Amino acid sequence: MLTTSLRMLNEHYQFLNNEGEDVIQGLTQSPKTLPPKYFYDDRGSELFEKICELPEYYPTRTEAWILQQYADEIAQITGNCELVELGSGSSTKTLFLLDAYQKIASSCRYIPIDVSHGILKSSVLKLQQKYPNFFVEGLIGTYEQALMKLESTFASSRMIFFLGSSLGNFNPQECDDFLKQITRTLQPSDYFLLGIDLQKPKEILEPAYNDSQGVTAAFNLNILSHLNWRFQGNFDLNLFNHQAIYNQSDAQVEMYLHCQKSHEVSLEALDLQVLFADGESILTEISRKFDLLKMQKQLETHGLKTVKIWTDPKQWFGLILCQA
Ligand code: AVI
Repeated sequence: MLTTSLRMLNEHYQFLNNEGEDVIQGLTQSPKTLPPKYFYDDRGSELFEKICELPEYYPTRTEAWILQQYADEIAQITGNCELVELGSGSSTKTLFLLDAYQKIASSCRYIPIDVSHGILKSSVLKLQQKYPNFFVEGLIGTYEQALMKLESTFASSRMIFFLGSSLGNFNPQECDDFLKQITRTLQPSDYFLLGIDLQKPKEILEPAYNDSQGVTAAFNLNILSHLNWRFQGNFDLNLFNHQAIYNQSDAQVEMYLHCQKSHEVSLEALDLQVLFADGESILTEISRKFDLLKMQKQLETHGLKTVKIWTDPKQWFGLILCQA
């Protein structure tokens, strides 16, 4: 029997109660920053899907290759279990996993979680058609909300997975907090599957975040449009330019919006006026690039023991399966 649904994790589904506090904090500090979660309104999520298909943006297809090669092995190791995906987006790469679980079980529960209502709805509908025997329940919310609210599973075990190197968008403190929350959520028979982008030369990394078609630039600028509608702002997108650089010493790509002219911006709903100087930048995202062995050790300090690691022939991307 077919069962598919979509549920909001919170009344104000995308953000916690002090809505916009983080925007005020980011724009009133020096240097200015914005939380990357504001990229993902419906247009931002669509642009991100386009980024994933760009020739320069290697992470998605590299991770997809690993999943295609090893999804059956992952399913063999975990056995049938409830599948919970944090930041599922369009769930495209997940199809390799779902196909693998379909081979070992007649029915399976899949819970995709994402902040973007539009993309979640369309992917849940597609999955409903492709996997009529699966129970699919989309949850709209942030990772934090999802991990706090995941009820105990009906299945004997669960695999939480976090793909696409989204962990790289957390600073080290946020990363630790997230892994702590994962450990708290996992039962002894559960699994955690993590996809991480690995360190590689600047010559590969910088084009991946400064693509020739300008899709990443549009994605970066869209954060300002999102703030305009969400908080009644008047950012003029023509006054900002996108740039991404690889900061080798911190092993992270940093994405900026550079202001071209001094001016004032107001966000009425936040009662906020912000002055921008000519040439001033907003750091909108970090994308950390990891070392597999160091990550394994970091997971271990959180009580997450590696079961198996998979990578691609160039060792550009890694998948780590672990257990608490
Ligand atoms: C979602 N996240 C892992 C992407 C990344 O590569 O850090 C977001 C992104 N930003 C620009 N391009 C892609």
